[in-house]
Amino acid sequence: ERPPLVDPFGRAITYVRVSVTDRCDFRCVYCMSEDMHFLPKAEVLSLEELDRLCSAFVRLGTRKLRLTGGEPLVRRDILELIRSLGRHLRTGRLDELTLTTNGSQLARHADALAEAGVRRVNVSLDTLDPARFERITRWGRLSRVMEGLAAAKAAGLAVKINCVALKGVNEDETETLVAWCAGQGFDLSFIEVMPLGDIDGAGGGETRLAQYLPLSLLRARLARRWTLTDIPWRTGGPARYVRVEETGQRIGFITPLTHNFCESCNRVRVTCTGRLFMCLGQEDSADLRTPLRAAPDDAALTEAIREAIGRKPKGHDFIIDRRQKGPAVGRHMSVTGG
Ligand code: GTP
Ligand code: 5AD
Ligand code: SF4
Repeated sequence: ERPPLVDPFGRAITYVRVSVTDRCDFRCVYCMSEDMHFLPKAEVLSLEELDRLCSAFVRLGTRKLRLTGGEPLVRRDILELIRSLGRHLRTGRLDELTLTTNGSQLARHADALAEAGVRRVNVSLDTLDPARFERITRWGRLSRVMEGLAAAKAAGLAVKINCVALKGVNEDETETLVAWCAGQGFDLSFIEVMPLGDIDGAGGGETRLAQYLPLSLLRARLARRWTLTDIPWRTGGPARYVRVEETGQRIGFITPLTHNFCESCNRVRVTCTGRLFMCLGQEDSADLRTPLRAAPDDAALTEAIREAIGRKPKGHDFIIDRRQKGPAVGRHMSVTGG
Protein backbone atom coordinates (compact mmCIF):
# COMPACT_ATOMS: atom_id res chain seq x y z
CA GLU A 1 0.00 0.00 0.00
CA ARG A 2 1.13 3.53 -0.77
CA PRO A 3 1.85 5.84 2.15
CA PRO A 4 -0.97 7.97 3.53
CA LEU A 5 -1.39 11.58 2.53
CA VAL A 6 1.43 13.84 3.61
CA ASP A 7 1.63 17.46 2.47
CA PRO A 8 4.75 19.41 1.43
CA PHE A 9 5.26 20.58 5.01
CA GLY A 10 5.31 17.06 6.39
CA ARG A 11 1.81 17.24 7.85
CA ALA A 12 -0.14 13.98 7.60
CA ILE A 13 -3.68 14.60 6.43
CA THR A 14 -5.88 12.32 8.48
CA TYR A 15 -8.97 14.46 9.11
CA VAL A 16 -11.45 15.23 6.35
CA ARG A 17 -14.44 17.52 6.76
CA VAL A 18 -17.11 16.97 4.17
CA SER A 19 -19.89 19.44 3.62
CA VAL A 20 -22.85 17.35 2.50
CA THR A 21 -25.13 20.26 1.64
CA ASP A 22 -24.88 24.02 1.28
CA ARG A 23 -28.40 24.39 2.65
CA CYS A 24 -29.36 25.19 6.17
CA ASP A 25 -32.56 25.89 8.04
CA PHE A 26 -30.84 28.80 9.84
CA ARG A 27 -28.99 31.83 8.49
CA CYS A 28 -26.47 32.64 11.21
CA VAL A 29 -25.24 36.17 10.66
CA TYR A 30 -21.57 35.17 10.67
CA CYS A 31 -22.08 32.27 8.32
CA MET A 32 -24.62 33.12 5.66
CA SER A 33 -26.26 36.14 4.15
CA GLU A 34 -30.00 36.42 4.49
CA ASP A 35 -30.65 35.90 0.78
CA MET A 36 -28.35 32.96 0.12
CA HIS A 37 -28.71 31.32 -3.27
CA PHE A 38 -28.38 27.61 -3.00
CA LEU A 39 -26.87 25.28 -5.56
CA PRO A 40 -28.90 23.40 -8.15
CA LYS A 41 -29.13 19.70 -7.41
CA ALA A 42 -27.05 18.55 -10.39
CA GLU A 43 -24.03 20.34 -9.00
CA VAL A 44 -24.26 18.64 -5.64
CA LEU A 45 -22.73 15.22 -5.16
CA SER A 46 -25.19 12.37 -4.75
CA LEU A 47 -25.10 10.26 -1.62
CA GLU A 48 -23.40 7.50 -3.61
CA GLU A 49 -20.76 9.94 -4.84
CA LEU A 50 -20.20 11.24 -1.31
CA ASP A 51 -19.76 7.69 -0.14
CA ARG A 52 -17.18 6.97 -2.85
CA LEU A 53 -15.36 10.18 -2.09
CA CYS A 54 -15.23 9.60 1.67
CA SER A 55 -14.20 6.00 1.16
CA ALA A 56 -11.39 7.04 -1.17
CA PHE A 57 -10.06 9.30 1.58
CA VAL A 58 -10.35 6.47 4.09
CA ARG A 59 -8.26 4.28 1.80
CA LEU A 60 -5.72 7.12 1.70
CA GLY A 61 -5.35 7.10 5.47
CA THR A 62 -8.12 9.39 6.71
CA ARG A 63 -8.87 8.45 10.34
CA LYS A 64 -11.54 11.01 11.11
CA LEU A 65 -14.50 12.05 8.99
CA ARG A 66 -16.72 14.94 9.95
CA LEU A 67 -19.87 15.73 8.04
CA THR A 68 -20.79 19.39 8.01
CA GLY A 69 -22.99 21.68 5.95
CA GLY A 70 -24.76 24.00 5.73
CA GLU A 71 -26.65 21.80 8.08
CA PRO A 72 -25.89 18.13 7.42
CA LEU A 73 -29.16 16.89 8.87
CA VAL A 74 -31.32 18.87 6.45
CA ARG A 75 -30.05 16.74 3.59
CA ARG A 76 -32.63 14.13 2.76
CA ASP A 77 -31.61 10.52 3.46
CA ILE A 78 -28.35 11.64 5.02
CA LEU A 79 -28.68 8.80 7.53
CA GLU A 80 -28.19 6.38 4.63
CA LEU A 81 -24.77 7.84 3.98
CA ILE A 82 -23.87 7.84 7.66
CA ARG A 83 -24.96 4.23 8.08
CA SER A 84 -22.96 3.24 5.04
CA LEU A 85 -19.82 5.07 6.18
CA GLY A 86 -20.18 3.33 9.53
CA ARG A 87 -18.66 0.25 7.88
CA HIS A 88 -15.24 1.89 8.02
CA LEU A 89 -15.54 2.15 11.80
CA ARG A 90 -16.31 -1.54 12.05
CA THR A 91 -13.30 -2.51 9.97
CA GLY A 92 -11.11 -0.27 12.12
CA ARG A 93 -9.97 1.88 9.20
CA LEU A 94 -11.69 4.93 10.65
CA ASP A 95 -11.42 6.15 14.25
CA GLU A 96 -14.24 8.61 14.22
CA LEU A 97 -17.30 9.45 12.16
CA THR A 98 -18.93 12.59 13.40
CA LEU A 99 -21.03 15.62 12.62
CA THR A 100 -21.15 19.33 13.22
CA THR A 101 -24.78 20.33 13.41
CA ASN A 102 -27.00 23.20 14.47
CA GLY A 103 -29.10 20.73 16.42
CA SER A 104 -32.43 21.68 14.89
CA GLN A 105 -33.08 18.17 13.53
CA LEU A 106 -31.20 16.27 16.18
CA ALA A 107 -34.26 15.22 18.14
CA ARG A 108 -35.47 12.95 15.37
CA HIS A 109 -32.06 11.67 14.31
CA ALA A 110 -30.10 11.16 17.53
CA ASP A 111 -30.94 7.48 18.01
CA ALA A 112 -30.18 6.57 14.41
CA LEU A 113 -26.88 8.43 14.56
CA ALA A 114 -25.81 6.51 17.63
CA GLU A 115 -26.83 3.24 16.00
CA ALA A 116 -24.79 4.09 12.91
CA GLY A 117 -21.64 4.38 15.02
CA VAL A 118 -21.51 8.11 15.68
CA ARG A 119 -20.15 8.64 19.20
CA ARG A 120 -20.10 12.38 19.49
CA VAL A 121 -21.55 15.46 17.84
CA ASN A 122 -20.59 19.12 17.85
CA VAL A 123 -23.57 21.41 18.18
CA SER A 124 -23.46 25.13 17.48
CA LEU A 125 -25.04 27.17 20.23
CA ASP A 126 -24.03 30.76 20.84
CA THR A 127 -26.63 31.79 23.37
CA LEU A 128 -29.14 30.42 25.85
CA ASP A 129 -31.51 33.30 25.31
CA PRO A 130 -34.34 32.50 22.85
CA ALA A 131 -34.69 36.04 21.49
CA ARG A 132 -30.97 36.40 21.02
CA PHE A 133 -30.80 32.97 19.44
CA GLU A 134 -33.42 34.06 16.96
CA ARG A 135 -31.43 37.17 16.10
CA ILE A 136 -28.14 35.34 15.58
CA THR A 137 -29.67 32.55 13.50
CA ARG A 138 -32.14 35.01 11.91
CA TRP A 139 -35.12 32.77 12.71
CA GLY A 140 -33.97 29.67 14.58
CA ARG A 141 -35.98 28.32 17.50
CA LEU A 142 -33.86 27.64 20.56
CA SER A 143 -36.37 25.20 22.03
CA ARG A 144 -35.88 22.80 19.11
CA VAL A 145 -32.13 22.79 19.64
CA MET A 146 -32.68 22.13 23.32
CA GLU A 147 -34.88 19.16 22.42
CA GLY A 148 -32.18 17.97 20.06
CA LEU A 149 -29.53 18.21 22.75
CA ALA A 150 -31.69 16.28 25.20
CA ALA A 151 -32.22 13.56 22.58
CA ALA A 152 -28.51 13.37 21.85
CA LYS A 153 -27.79 12.93 25.54
CA ALA A 154 -30.47 10.28 25.90
CA ALA A 155 -29.02 8.42 22.90
CA GLY A 156 -25.64 8.33 24.61
CA LEU A 157 -23.92 10.73 22.22
CA ALA A 158 -21.18 12.90 23.65
CA VAL A 159 -21.90 16.55 22.91
CA LYS A 160 -19.57 19.45 22.35
CA ILE A 161 -21.08 22.90 22.16
CA ASN A 162 -19.49 25.37 19.74
CA CYS A 163 -19.96 28.97 20.72
CA VAL A 164 -18.80 31.75 18.42
CA ALA A 165 -17.76 34.66 20.62
CA LEU A 166 -19.31 37.87 19.34
CA LYS A 167 -18.48 41.21 20.84
CA GLY A 168 -21.55 43.03 22.05
CA VAL A 169 -23.77 40.08 21.17
CA ASN A 170 -23.15 37.16 23.50
CA GLU A 171 -20.03 38.04 25.47
CA ASP A 172 -22.10 38.62 28.61
CA GLU A 173 -23.18 34.97 28.50
CA THR A 174 -19.77 33.37 28.66
CA GLU A 175 -19.99 32.35 32.29
CA THR A 176 -23.61 31.27 32.02
CA LEU A 177 -22.68 28.98 29.14
CA VAL A 178 -19.78 27.46 31.03
CA ALA A 179 -21.98 26.75 34.04
CA TRP A 180 -24.80 25.40 31.92
CA CYS A 181 -22.51 23.04 29.98
CA ALA A 182 -21.01 21.82 33.23
CA GLY A 183 -24.50 20.95 34.44
CA GLN A 184 -25.37 19.17 31.21
CA GLY A 185 -22.10 17.27 30.97
CA PHE A 186 -21.25 18.89 27.64
CA ASP A 187 -17.83 19.96 26.45
CA LEU A 188 -17.65 23.52 25.23
CA SER A 189 -15.51 25.33 22.70
CA PHE A 190 -15.35 29.03 22.15
CA ILE A 191 -14.46 30.19 18.65
CA GLU A 192 -13.09 33.47 17.39
CA VAL A 193 -15.27 34.77 14.62
CA MET A 194 -13.49 34.44 11.30
CA PRO A 195 -13.73 37.03 8.56
CA LEU A 196 -15.40 34.89 5.93
CA GLY A 197 -18.19 36.03 3.68
CA ASP A 198 -19.22 39.64 4.01
CA ILE A 199 -16.10 41.13 5.45
CA ASP A 200 -17.34 44.59 4.64
CA GLY A 201 -20.55 44.06 6.45
CA ALA A 202 -22.87 43.92 3.50
CA GLY A 203 -25.69 42.64 5.62
CA GLY A 204 -26.90 45.26 7.98
CA GLY A 205 -23.57 46.88 8.71
CA GLU A 206 -22.50 44.40 11.35
CA THR A 207 -19.14 43.22 10.31
CA ARG A 208 -17.27 40.20 11.50
CA LEU A 209 -14.40 42.47 12.30
CA ALA A 210 -16.51 44.72 14.52
CA GLN A 211 -17.81 41.67 16.38
CA TYR A 212 -14.39 40.14 16.73
CA LEU A 213 -13.54 39.32 20.32
CA PRO A 214 -10.12 37.88 21.14
CA LEU A 215 -10.57 34.79 23.25
CA SER A 216 -7.69 35.76 25.53
CA LEU A 217 -10.05 38.38 26.92
CA LEU A 218 -12.82 35.94 27.48
CA ARG A 219 -10.47 33.47 29.09
CA ALA A 220 -9.25 36.13 31.49
CA ARG A 221 -12.84 36.82 32.48
CA LEU A 222 -13.50 33.15 33.16
CA ALA A 223 -10.32 32.95 35.20
CA ARG A 224 -11.75 35.47 37.64
CA ARG A 225 -14.44 32.99 38.64
CA TRP A 226 -12.85 29.60 38.03
CA THR A 227 -9.44 27.96 38.14
CA LEU A 228 -8.39 27.11 34.60
CA THR A 229 -5.58 24.65 33.97
CA ASP A 230 -4.08 24.11 30.52
CA ILE A 231 -4.35 20.49 29.49
CA PRO A 232 -2.64 18.77 26.58
CA TRP A 233 -5.89 17.13 25.42
CA ARG A 234 -6.15 16.95 21.64
CA THR A 235 -9.09 15.81 19.57
CA GLY A 236 -7.31 16.19 16.29
CA GLY A 237 -9.15 19.49 16.01
CA PRO A 238 -7.76 22.99 16.38
CA ALA A 239 -8.89 23.77 19.91
CA ARG A 240 -6.55 24.23 22.87
CA TYR A 241 -8.13 23.00 26.04
CA VAL A 242 -8.31 23.95 29.68
CA ARG A 243 -9.86 22.10 32.57
CA VAL A 244 -12.14 24.00 34.91
CA GLU A 245 -10.96 22.68 38.27
CA GLU A 246 -14.19 23.47 40.11
CA THR A 247 -16.46 21.63 37.66
CA GLY A 248 -14.06 19.15 36.07
CA GLN A 249 -15.26 20.13 32.60
CA ARG A 250 -13.17 20.77 29.52
CA ILE A 251 -13.30 24.03 27.63
CA GLY A 252 -11.68 24.57 24.25
CA PHE A 253 -10.50 27.79 22.68
CA ILE A 254 -10.32 27.97 18.91
CA THR A 255 -8.26 30.99 18.06
CA PRO A 256 -7.53 31.13 14.35
CA LEU A 257 -6.79 34.84 14.60
CA THR A 258 -4.80 35.32 17.78
CA HIS A 259 -2.99 32.02 17.67
CA ASN A 260 -2.97 30.22 14.44
CA PHE A 261 -2.53 26.52 14.61
CA CYS A 262 -1.65 25.95 10.97
CA GLU A 263 1.68 24.29 11.72
CA SER A 264 -0.15 21.26 13.09
CA CYS A 265 -2.96 21.27 10.55
CA ASN A 266 -4.10 17.75 9.75
CA ARG A 267 -7.20 18.45 7.70
CA VAL A 268 -8.75 19.32 4.40
CA ARG A 269 -12.33 20.15 3.46
CA VAL A 270 -14.59 19.04 0.66
CA THR A 271 -17.61 21.04 -0.42
CA CYS A 272 -20.89 19.43 -1.42
CA THR A 273 -19.96 19.94 -5.07
CA GLY A 274 -16.79 17.93 -4.61
CA ARG A 275 -14.38 20.83 -4.43
CA LEU A 276 -11.40 20.11 -2.19
CA PHE A 277 -10.16 23.09 -0.18
CA MET A 278 -6.71 22.55 1.22
CA CYS A 279 -7.09 25.41 3.72
CA LEU A 280 -10.10 27.13 5.28
CA GLY A 281 -8.45 30.49 4.83
CA GLN A 282 -7.18 30.19 1.26
CA GLU A 283 -8.93 30.21 -2.09
CA ASP A 284 -7.03 27.42 -3.82
CA SER A 285 -9.12 24.32 -4.45
CA ALA A 286 -9.24 21.20 -6.58
CA ASP A 287 -12.17 19.75 -8.46
CA LEU A 288 -12.82 16.17 -7.37
CA ARG A 289 -16.26 15.91 -8.95
CA THR A 290 -14.93 15.61 -12.49
CA PRO A 291 -12.67 12.61 -11.78
CA LEU A 292 -15.40 11.15 -9.56
CA ARG A 293 -17.97 11.34 -12.34
CA ALA A 294 -15.59 10.46 -15.16
CA ALA A 295 -15.04 6.84 -14.20
CA PRO A 296 -16.60 4.23 -11.94
CA ASP A 297 -13.23 3.31 -10.49
CA ASP A 298 -11.34 5.64 -8.17
CA ALA A 299 -7.93 5.80 -9.87
CA ALA A 300 -8.32 9.32 -11.28
CA LEU A 301 -10.01 10.50 -8.11
CA THR A 302 -7.18 9.19 -5.93
CA GLU A 303 -4.62 10.85 -8.16
CA ALA A 304 -6.46 14.16 -8.03
CA ILE A 305 -6.53 14.00 -4.23
CA ARG A 306 -2.82 13.25 -4.02
CA GLU A 307 -2.00 16.02 -6.45
CA ALA A 308 -4.05 18.56 -4.47
CA ILE A 309 -2.52 17.61 -1.10
CA GLY A 310 0.80 18.22 -2.81
CA ARG A 311 -0.04 21.91 -2.90
CA LYS A 312 -1.58 22.40 0.53
CA PRO A 313 -0.43 25.85 1.63
CA LYS A 314 1.53 26.49 4.78
CA GLY A 315 -1.27 28.41 6.43
CA HIS A 316 -4.08 30.92 6.17
CA ASP A 317 -3.73 34.63 6.20
CA PHE A 318 -6.85 35.94 7.83
CA ILE A 319 -6.42 39.53 8.82
CA ILE A 320 -7.67 41.20 11.95
CA ASP A 321 -6.70 44.70 11.03
CA ARG A 322 -8.35 45.80 7.86
CA ARG A 323 -5.72 48.40 7.12
CA GLN A 324 -3.27 45.60 6.87
CA LYS A 325 -2.78 44.19 3.39
CA GLY A 326 -3.91 40.65 2.78
CA PRO A 327 -6.93 38.86 1.46
CA ALA A 328 -10.17 38.26 3.24
CA VAL A 329 -11.85 35.11 2.14
CA GLY A 330 -14.84 35.83 -0.03
CA ARG A 331 -16.75 32.60 0.30
CA HIS A 332 -19.22 32.10 3.09
CA MET A 333 -18.44 29.74 5.93
CA SER A 334 -21.36 27.55 4.87
CA VAL A 335 -19.50 26.61 1.68
CA THR A 336 -16.79 24.75 3.52
CA GLY A 337 -18.70 24.01 6.69
CA GLY A 338 -16.23 25.63 9.06
P1 GTP B 1 -13.28 18.39 17.30
O1 GTP B 1 -13.17 17.06 16.66
O2 GTP B 1 -14.35 18.38 18.32
O3 GTP B 1 -12.00 18.94 17.76
O4 GTP B 1 -13.86 19.31 16.14
P2 GTP B 1 -13.38 20.57 15.37
O5 GTP B 1 -13.15 21.69 16.31
O6 GTP B 1 -12.34 20.20 14.40
O7 GTP B 1 -14.68 20.83 14.50
P3 GTP B 1 -15.89 21.81 14.56
O8 GTP B 1 -16.71 21.48 13.36
O9 GTP B 1 -16.58 21.76 15.85
O10 GTP B 1 -15.21 23.20 14.32
C1 GTP B 1 -15.12 24.15 15.31
C2 GTP B 1 -14.62 25.44 14.74
O11 GTP B 1 -13.26 25.35 14.45
C3 GTP B 1 -15.32 25.87 13.46
O12 GTP B 1 -15.62 27.23 13.56
C4 GTP B 1 -14.28 25.66 12.44
O13 GTP B 1 -14.42 26.58 11.42
C5 GTP B 1 -13.03 25.92 13.21
N1 GTP B 1 -11.95 25.22 12.57
C6 GTP B 1 -11.85 23.90 12.45
N2 GTP B 1 -10.74 23.58 11.79
C7 GTP B 1 -10.11 24.74 11.48
C8 GTP B 1 -8.91 25.07 10.77
O14 GTP B 1 -8.18 24.23 10.27
N3 GTP B 1 -8.60 26.38 10.65
C9 GTP B 1 -9.38 27.34 11.16
N4 GTP B 1 -9.01 28.60 11.00
N5 GTP B 1 -10.52 27.07 11.83
C10 GTP B 1 -10.89 25.79 11.98
N1 5AD C 1 -16.29 32.38 12.28
C1 5AD C 1 -16.14 31.42 13.24
N2 5AD C 1 -16.92 30.36 13.34
C2 5AD C 1 -17.91 30.22 12.46
N3 5AD C 1 -18.86 29.26 12.32
C3 5AD C 1 -19.61 29.58 11.25
N4 5AD C 1 -19.19 30.74 10.70
C4 5AD C 1 -18.14 31.17 11.45
C5 5AD C 1 -17.28 32.29 11.38
N5 5AD C 1 -17.42 33.25 10.45
C6 5AD C 1 -18.95 28.10 13.20
C7 5AD C 1 -20.33 27.62 13.51
C8 5AD C 1 -20.14 26.14 13.73
C9 5AD C 1 -18.81 25.83 13.15
C10 5AD C 1 -18.76 24.73 12.18
O1 5AD C 1 -18.37 27.02 12.54
O2 5AD C 1 -20.87 28.20 14.64
O3 5AD C 1 -20.15 25.80 15.08
FE1 SF4 D 1 -26.47 27.04 9.45
FE2 SF4 D 1 -24.39 26.45 11.02
FE3 SF4 D 1 -24.16 28.34 9.19
FE4 SF4 D 1 -25.70 28.76 11.29
S1 SF4 D 1 -23.46 28.43 11.32
S2 SF4 D 1 -26.24 29.23 9.14
S3 SF4 D 1 -26.54 26.78 11.65
S4 SF4 D 1 -24.50 26.21 8.79
